[in-house]
Amino acid sequence: MTSKLRGFAARWFPKLRSREFYIDSPGFLSGLGDSAWLLYGLARSLKPKVCVEIGSARGKSACAVGLALRRNGGGKLYAIDPHSVTTWNDTNSVDSFAIISENLRQAGVTEFVEIVRKTSGAAAKGWDKKIDLIFIDGDHSYEGVKADWELFLPHLNEFGVVIFHDTLWDLRPDGQHDRADMGVPRFVEELRAAGYPVITIDQNFGVSLVQPRKGGVKLSQ
Ligand SMILES: C[S@@+](CC[C@H](N)C(=O)[O-])C[C@H]1O[C@@H](n2cnc3c(N)ncnc32)[C@H](O)[C@@H]1O
Repeated sequence: MTSKLRGFAARWFPKLRSREFYIDSPGFLSGLGDSAWLLYGLARSLKPKVCVEIGSARGKSACAVGLALRRNGGGKLYAIDPHSVTTWNDTNSVDSFAIISENLRQAGVTEFVEIVRKTSGAAAKGWDKKIDLIFIDGDHSYEGVKADWELFLPHLNEFGVVIFHDTLWDLRPDGQHDRADMGVPRFVEELRAAGYPVITIDQNFGVSLVQPRKGGVKLSQ
């Protein structure tokens, strides 16, 4: 065995033994990074029945939630994305439908993740399920992210959790990734200022957890 192969085997063999580490596969080309484990842990802890994701791309976040649901033994993720070529995907943007389908299959989570090949606006029409966890990572413009919040807010359970990706984008602009049409930080800051509890993780361009109730859910009378 060459030393390169030995290094690869040493790095991947322990991980491949656990299906969960499919989340770390390099082929996702995702900016979500290790924050996928936050989604995994949250879904393991929350035991959500209904999860929604807006913006799936190649499926890193969908696999993370799907693997948690699989381990929980139940629940469903509705993974909404038109999978058309888009600048909100990545620099190698492609039609990601076949790629996410294969990733979900490889991760063993097709039973727990339903691909909804639509925009969030189209998927929200006639939506009738109460949502426990929603990950918003689709159209990152201010208008887009605001619309996603407004479309799905009425469907969230009291202890539901909303997770936004890319919420620290504007705080430390790095030149390489700057884009004038990024609106997530501004919108989530408006939610925080309006009284929604927001916790932000300073990793992977910012991941913010929002409780969808102004002032938070009361814990005593
Ligand atoms: C940054 S990528 C998502 C990354 C993915 N969550 C991950 O873990 O790698 C953004 C995705 O949002 C999708 N998207 C853009 N606008 C959307 C919309 N209105 N509804 C649903 N998905 C949308 C794009 O097609 C793209 O695949």
